[in-house]
Amino acid sequence: MKNRNLEAQFTLFPIDNEFEVPKEETTSDGAELVSFRDLVPEINDTGYLTHAIFAYPAKFIPQIVRYAINTYTKEGDWIVDPFAGSGTVGVEAYLCKRNAILFDLNLLLNHIMPLKVYDSKERLAEADLHKLLEGMRESKHQFMPVWSNVAYWYAPEMLDVLSQYWGFIHNTDNTVYSTVIKAALLKASKRFSYTEDRTPKLARSKRKLQAIGELLKENWKEQLDDMIHSLSLKTLRSLNDFVVYTQQNCFEHSGQVEFRGGVDSSYVAVPRACDALITSPPYLQAQEYIRSTKMELFWLGHTEEEVKELSRLEIPYRKADRIIQTETLDKVREMLTRDDLQKRLDSYFCHTVNALENSMRQLKLNAAACIFVGNPRIDGITVEIWRILAEYFVERGFAFEKVYEDRIKTRKLFGARKNKNPDGMKSEFLLILRKSAICQTSALPREPLLQDAADPLPAPKMSPDSDAS
Ligand SMILES: C[S@@+](CC[C@H](N)C(=O)[O-])C[C@H]1O[C@@H](n2cnc3c(N)ncnc32)[C@H](O)[C@@H]1O
Repeated sequence: MKNRNLEAQFTLFPIDNEFEVPKEETTSDGAELVSFRDLVPEINDTGYLTHAIFAYPAKFIPQIVRYAINTYTKEGDWIVDPFAGSGTVGVEAYLCKRNAILFDLNLLLNHIMPLKVYDSKERLAEADLHKLLEGMRESKHQFMPVWSNVAYWYAPEMLDVLSQYWGFIHNTDNTVYSTVIKAALLKASKRFSYTEDRTPKLARSKRKLQAIGELLKENWKEQLDDMIHSLSLKTLRSLNDFVVYTQQNCFEHSGQVEFRGGVDSSYVAVPRACDALITSPPYLQAQEYIRSTKMELFWLGHTEEEVKELSRLEIPYRKADRIIQTETLDKVREMLTRDDLQKRLDSYFCHTVNALENSMRQLKLNAAACIFVGNPRIDGITVEIWRILAEYFVERGFAFEKVYEDRIKTRKLFGARKNKNPDGMKSEFLLILRKSAICQTSALPREPLLQDAADPLPAPKMSPDSDAS
């Protein structure tokens, strides 16, 4: 079995072909056309050091974060990211000697960060990793995820071996070596399941059923062990590169990276004043981060109930508890005829603004808020998210500093698109706002309204192959 897709990272806007986007004028009035990859030539590999250990849908490319850090913060500053996902901001902050505080609804953040920011002076020994891997192969432990239809996703013999390996991990001391193996097991558990590897969401496809069927006729267990072994080794080497890098760059007084996965950023208490916000909010159209990563969450020991509870809080699938109004957003609303899409739009802006506002309340005077968004289309109508957010926050006393437009050079598309935007998205935008003395976001965090979580919007329809749970 080839590992071709193993390291596949998804751009902010997953689509289904690779192609070159022609160089054109900026698509949005007032935006400065840039290429963050060109502006940050010191990063020539988006997966450098520990960035590629975990795949995560709609990850930041580190160049954008590095640019924002270099331009809008200084050494020792605190950066907040309320939509931290896989923690790109945390890694870049640490490497630039800044501190970071990260929040995300997804519990994966708590499992990802200890590996991605490996705060140690000691290099790891490959021999110790090999010993642990050997123990895992001989283990008699078993662990079965608390997931009612786990059997739907696996061939029985593969499920049996995976539950033995996970049984070992859940019964072993939590060391950096066991965490390294856990990261490899997460990828292997997806690869050796019936879900497609190429889409972030769980989808049991005919192609994958066939591939697993073929694999079962071969030396699949040897291939599974090889995969876990080589991925673990690769991760260990990334961690050692991280140690060497921080040693060479004098990290005696390194920054702190605090993180809290499993929280709703709209209402979480941000515990300190911060010098900058750097974030990329969720996507307006169906991204479903929790559903996309639930296989991983179950294997890591989270329950179906926990995962369902988090899914209900995910933006944009919860009912809006207030209607955000700005000139541009009101125009979009007027054009939008479909009721379900109106509700999605209202939900998206209500909860995205709530979460941003909650963190921006803790920004110091003159601190920058750097918000990375796309210009998606719904029902053929372009929604200039950066402009809507700028209008909202400027009205509340933030100063508009600038907006950068980054053209997506190449991207991967997944599956045929049925919406009215066959070309997909061509640009992403980095909006910069500044906290001024007249900002009106100093009130206490808002309280969630009871109806909010209790009455979520329906999630988008799933394909017949998708997990029904
Ligand atoms: C575009 S992704 C962020 C990716 C991140 N920048 C990275 O590099 O990995 C948006 C994130 O918003 C999170 N999210 C969605 N609803 C949320 C909520 N109510 N509170 C906190 N995070 C939420 C999702 O779990 C997802 O990780």
